Amino acid sequence: MKHLITFLLMAGLASTGTSQNHAAEVESLLKKMTIEEKIGQMTQVTIGAVGNGKEGETDAVKLKEAIQKYHIGSILNVDQHAMSVAEWHRMLTAIQDEAMKSRLEIPIIYGLDAIHGQTYTLESTLFPQNIAIAASRNIGIAKKAAKITAAELRASGVRWNFGPMLDCGRQVYWSRFPESYGEDTYIGKVMGSAAVKGYEEDGLGKTTSVASCMKHYMGYSNPRNGKDRTPAYIPEIELREHYLPQFREAVASGASSVMINSSLINGVPTHGDKYLLTDVLRKELGFKGVAVSDWEDIKRLYTWHKVASSPLDAVVIGVNAGVDMSMVPYDFSFATLLLEAVNKKLVSMERIDEAVRRILTMKYNVGLFANPYPEKEAIGQFGKPEYKDFAFEAAAEATTLLKNTNNILPLKPGIKILVAGPSAQSKAALNGAWSYTWQGKDEKWYPESELTILEAFQQKIGRENVITTSGIGYDDPANFEVKALRDAAQNVDAVVLCLGENAYAESPGNIFTLDMPTEQKELIRAAKSSGKPVIVVLNQGRPLFITDMVNEMDAILLAYWSGSGGAKAIVSTIMGDNNPSGILPFSYPKYPGDIVLYDHIFTETIREVFNNNVGTGYDPLFAFGFGLSYTTFEYSDLKLSDNKMSANTTIKVSVTVQNTGSRQGKHSVELYTHDQYASIAPSVRRLRAFQKIELKAGEKKTVTFDLNAEDLEFVNAQLKRVTEPGEFDVMIGELKGTFDYR
Ligand code: BGC
Repeated sequence: MKHLITFLLMAGLASTGTSQNHAAEVESLLKKMTIEEKIGQMTQVTIGAVGNGKEGETDAVKLKEAIQKYHIGSILNVDQHAMSVAEWHRMLTAIQDEAMKSRLEIPIIYGLDAIHGQTYTLESTLFPQNIAIAASRNIGIAKKAAKITAAELRASGVRWNFGPMLDCGRQVYWSRFPESYGEDTYIGKVMGSAAVKGYEEDGLGKTTSVASCMKHYMGYSNPRNGKDRTPAYIPEIELREHYLPQFREAVASGASSVMINSSLINGVPTHGDKYLLTDVLRKELGFKGVAVSDWEDIKRLYTWHKVASSPLDAVVIGVNAGVDMSMVPYDFSFATLLLEAVNKKLVSMERIDEAVRRILTMKYNVGLFANPYPEKEAIGQFGKPEYKDFAFEAAAEATTLLKNTNNILPLKPGIKILVAGPSAQSKAALNGAWSYTWQGKDEKWYPESELTILEAFQQKIGRENVITTSGIGYDDPANFEVKALRDAAQNVDAVVLCLGENAYAESPGNIFTLDMPTEQKELIRAAKSSGKPVIVVLNQGRPLFITDMVNEMDAILLAYWSGSGGAKAIVSTIMGDNNPSGILPFSYPKYPGDIVLYDHIFTETIREVFNNNVGTGYDPLFAFGFGLSYTTFEYSDLKLSDNKMSANTTIKVSVTVQNTGSRQGKHSVELYTHDQYASIAPSVRRLRAFQKIELKAGEKKTVTFDLNAEDLEFVNAQLKRVTEPGEFDVMIGELKGTFDYR
């Protein structure tokens, strides 16, 4: 009996949520495999390595070599750009045909970065980037967007998604900040978990699901110098407080795989960090799925990080640390070197079997052994009209109104406007990273049916009421012509300026300053000098510094990179069909030299002036959680069901919310706590729960939250999660209650 239990545990039966019981099949297949076949399964290459240079085509000789000689287990990526569903099916069929000729007929698992919708299938529906999803504070949106993404991926024949990204966005300069859920750990935890469920919860055997990949484990998101793939220095206490919980939650939600942080923490490249990859991830979090490297990162243990003294050493360090699959990605060196390492007894057969067992289990779970080919029955899931409606709803709910002087918005019907600026006619600037191409910059791959902001205005208020001076995208100099803008403004009632950042992803998005570019500021000044109201739409991934421009703008609408429905969402907000309810998932900084996060500890805000050391240093341009509405909400009657809590009890916290304005609106009620005294200097406030509600004008509602000891915990000096006895404050809006935890 004991042996049986050990076997079942080893074989992954104790695996998370959605995986099914394929243990017996996996073990039987494993027994038949040669060492070369096993190592091949651990090898992943990019499609370019087996392609012929044309999108969607493979090179028969290279593919045969990859599969029959090196026995590779996985392929990823596109050559350059998105393809049609039919092209995907053709290419994947060619790949699986070759795999079915191999001795054991082990199918290839194909992986893609469907980051905010299915990036790489033409005509797919793209949703707001994670930063915008976080602004919506609507967990249902995170989940549904993931479900649709899964359906469109699977319709394209792909069953493994490299998402969600769970890196906590605590460094605004980082080029992948828009892919994050922002600076708060709790938001990242609940949104990330919802995404994992959206991808996987139908059951991976069903054609509506894909295996998810939580990434990038962990600490990737806070490089000290802000540049992508550069070192982070994060003490373990902070790693555990702010970066680990999202992964713990995603594991519990059933994530099938994890991708490793490309960079280093405290000088240790994560790909070689056995403590994080094995002790924490496996033993502590209980993760049973596949750990895949990021791009070329095993090689880079040698070529970049210099913790390995040779390519062989790099493979040994990476695999022994806990990487199961190497995204090599251009060649087969990993397979050759790993074989050498096993022969030299530098890597054990147990470690190889463990990795291969996980990979085969994932392949069984996603149904590849039952049918390795693109599933014809899934094609109908692609491109349903309701996806576009939902993309609009998601974008509308994310849109965050930051300024609205004299209630200039919504604009009145019958108004005539000038729509200008570099993102007025750019789909790239509406979508950002991972949109039909990696960088998302190339306008020609966007669906023709997708609207630009200019087109959405023309549709909404009539072509005769909209003029423009803009051309298409950031590269068109017409977009920065100040005089043309000023002249045109004379003929309208208001100017809508569409500014921000063009699309970028990863290192090409590295930036040296987050100041709004001078040429954009000039546009604002020119518009303002016309005397007409200036409404600025910010299509951007990161918070550009606009402090010196705020007075020149009558209204500011932060639209983030909000996807296929972005233009319509912006227009419907400006024209008042959508009442904005997005609120910031980060602190919008005022100055580059003064970046303080909302959950800082008190001393971070101290600005000592002789004896006056009162903290006032949390002074962002717009605070975390800020966002205006066309109506107003008031809180009253904060009640706690008890003023004492113990380890096993729950306190109910309720508050009455009333819509005191004149129109219906959605609103996120946010509950914060503050530990008055603790062994580690406590954060001034931490978001512990939120609920998004909708109220008609005048309507009142009581919102109730359950709070327990786990919600209050923090990581102590011994790196344990604890809730220490003492007084806690609960804050909702300006209201505050206190209870005692014993
Ligand atoms: C990125 C990952 C991505 C991988 C595969 C890497 O450069 O860091 O997020 O999943 O490429 O495209």
